[in-house]
Amino acid sequence: MSFLTPEQPKIEEPAAEIASGARLVPRITIQAFCENSQTAQLVESALHDRRMSKAALTTHNGGIEGAVETYKANPTPNLIIVETGLPPEEIPGSLERLAEVCDASTRVIVLGHVNDVLLYRELIRSGISEYIVLPAKSQDIVTAITELYASDGAAPIGRTIGFVSAKGGAGGSTVAHNVAWAIATSLRQDCLIVDMDFPFGTAGLNFNQDPPHGIADAVLANQKVDQTMLDRLMSKAANHINLLTAPATLDRTWDFEERDFEQVIEICQKSVPVIVLDIPHAWNAWTRQTLASVDEIVIVAEPDLANLRNAKNLVDAIKAMRPTENATSLVINKQALPRRPEISASEFASSVECNLIGQLGFDAQLFGTAANNGQMIAEVSSNAKVNEVFRAIGMHVTGRQATAGAGRASSLLKLPTLFKKRA
Ligand SMILES: Nc1ncnc2c1ncn2[C@@H]1O[C@H](COP(=O)(O)OP(=O)(O)OP(=O)(O)O)[C@@H](O)[C@H]1O
Ligand SMILES: [Mg+2]
Repeated sequence: MSFLTPEQPKIEEPAAEIASGARLVPRITIQAFCENSQTAQLVESALHDRRMSKAALTTHNGGIEGAVETYKANPTPNLIIVETGLPPEEIPGSLERLAEVCDASTRVIVLGHVNDVLLYRELIRSGISEYIVLPAKSQDIVTAITELYASDGAAPIGRTIGFVSAKGGAGGSTVAHNVAWAIATSLRQDCLIVDMDFPFGTAGLNFNQDPPHGIADAVLANQKVDQTMLDRLMSKAANHINLLTAPATLDRTWDFEERDFEQVIEICQKSVPVIVLDIPHAWNAWTRQTLASVDEIVIVAEPDLANLRNAKNLVDAIKAMRPTENATSLVINKQALPRRPEISASEFASSVECNLIGQLGFDAQLFGTAANNGQMIAEVSSNAKVNEVFRAIGMHVTGRQATAGAGRASSLLKLPTLFKKRA
């Protein structure tokens, strides 16, 4: 470790970027762990920058150790900012403990008091996204975040998860909406639900929303759609949940070309970390293309023969389109419907070669009440066991381990790749 090269990590002046129309930081969740109240104020003041208007930021005490303690029991946000007053030789070890409790997709910015280029390089090599020397201006923090999430080279942040029913009415939409709710409430990640069932979609109904605009405006705008337009079309259904609702009208037919949704989904991926696609039970060029291109597919099926046949056909088609991907995920819904003979979930999953990630019992009272009230299951009954299943599915589809803090993706990695690097 050398103190002989007091080279300030390069920070670009944001003025030119603002003049040419600044890009906004997407809807990420940021948690900062500071050691000094001035640093907490500095981080909070970053929120006043208009480029941060969509991001959700909270500040906490305790520096790196505070963060480690918090994330032993809680899922990590998109971005963690940690302040450290440790001497340079102790910083990598301390960050290693943080890496052990961090999800692989979480990025880390370190605020340090030591101006040391070797430390800077070591941290960047280990996967730390930026090291900012204090005292700094709030602009420096905003610029570092903008560089990570809103620059030309920034990787899209949004993970797309497509839910599709093996048979009409199997519950794909209900599961999709409740899983999005679980992701938003327990992971505190911003979720966008895109209702692709234009004539009959229920996302609006299920969240008791009837916005005048939605996904149809975006798709019909074709090449003209951009992030600003999408922001206008989205409706906020709850904390961390936005909807692009289906028009649910029959005054015209809704026929689309294979790639008509591509651009809209790509733009969504630049601005929201989790995108839940509620795909209708249909087989046409654009549903097939959507299944071919999403990050994660979840088939929702009832445990009967027709669902089994359809799920098998879906899986075969998916395998042919995505030969290198892991097994498709399966949720068995409406188990133990009174008097109905059923195929066991494990038998169902093994015969369609799927990864069984959730089983939900039939509960007409609970699901019926939620549907008729325009509420999620957790709102109708916060203690219902199914909420745990929705949460586990949410953890799985967002690439997280079910038990927070235990055996996370980055825990086995040691320096120099502590934190997963992203392009
Ligand atoms: N586990 C369950 N127990 C009882 N009712 C359920 C359960 N899951 C879903 N439902 C109900 O089943 C009906 C159909 O659900 P949903 O609309 O989610 O299915 P879908 O597969 O998306 O249908 P579609 O084919 O129209 O897209 C809804 O009324 C919903 O409330
Ligand atoms: Mg549906």
